[in-house]
Amino acid sequence: MNFWQKIKKPILALAPMAGVTDSAFRQLCKHYGADVVYTEMVSADGLYYDSKKTLELLKFSKAEKPIVVQLFGKRPATFVKAAAICQAAGFDGLDINFGCPAKKVVAHGGGVTLMRDLNNCRQIVEAVLAGTSLPVSVKIRAGIDEVTAVDFISHIKDLPIAALMVHGRYFKNPFSGPVDRDMIKRAKREFGGIVLANGGIASPEAAKEMLEQTGVDGLGLARGLYGQPWLFKQIKDYLKTGQYKTVGPIEIKKVILRHAKLALATKNSHGLVELRKHLLWYVAGWSEAKKLRSELVRVETLAAIEQILNRIS
Ligand SMILES: Cc1cc2nc3c(=O)[nH]c(=O)nc-3n(C[C@H](O)[C@H](O)[C@H](O)COP(=O)(O)O)c2cc1C
Repeated sequence: MNFWQKIKKPILALAPMAGVTDSAFRQLCKHYGADVVYTEMVSADGLYYDSKKTLELLKFSKAEKPIVVQLFGKRPATFVKAAAICQAAGFDGLDINFGCPAKKVVAHGGGVTLMRDLNNCRQIVEAVLAGTSLPVSVKIRAGIDEVTAVDFISHIKDLPIAALMVHGRYFKNPFSGPVDRDMIKRAKREFGGIVLANGGIASPEAAKEMLEQTGVDGLGLARGLYGQPWLFKQIKDYLKTGQYKTVGPIEIKKVILRHAKLALATKNSHGLVELRKHLLWYVAGWSEAKKLRSELVRVETLAAIEQILNRIS
């Protein structure tokens, strides 16, 4: 039995987000009940060529387990070595990015554009399976051009793939288009194994609706977590009891400090620079948000964050 099969359903996952799902944020999400966390996408080429910067992305703490490392790239040959490096680094699972629309990724024919060539997709999955004995999952989109998630799955489903995350939006409107729940439902039927639905889940109500409408085994949460990593706990409470607690400013201040300490511990002072976007998301709904924003985008120390928060009643 692999770790995916041991997680109680519905599985709540922190979906991969480059620049967001670093070790500090992953630890925070684990604290609030994430069942599994994905790293930011990691370049298979970078690992293949022993890039120091890429290897940095493989750092994680035990508190994050089970943790899945996500690889992106386009050349099957690089994935064999990349997968072996990830296994040696201690990850619990490996995911392959077939959904990213970012310019720097698709410009090289990676991410979602891989879905245009299903034979190459298959070769990449086979390369990862050859490089690791860890469970291998894939993340895809509802579709690109004429190729749908169902086409993708029918091309690879005979391979031992442990789990699949489907972002229900299409390439043509990659982040704000409608989420095609029917396609996610069809993907679940076609794949049969563990499927996580992703796209537009920002509340416990939306989470429940997605589960009910698609029949999937779990959810991948992404931007819905901006400024509210406690969404994992709220969803779990809501699914269990029909109720959940809202989180007020006093608690949010505590979360901010916890996040800041994790950022410092994992990335030193640079961690606080990377934390700034999270700080803006945390205070987005506050009445003083505008003034706070201008101060928070400049913070450099934990003391500065504490000082700003202490001023707010
Ligand atoms: C800033 C950012 C970075 C992302 N990075 C990745 C990534 O590294 N790998 C990946 O597969 N998807 C990535 N995604 C896509 C998300 O995992 C997710 O599929 C998408 O945001 C849709 O979910 P949402 O509507 O809940 O945000 C990223 C999304 C955002 C907003």
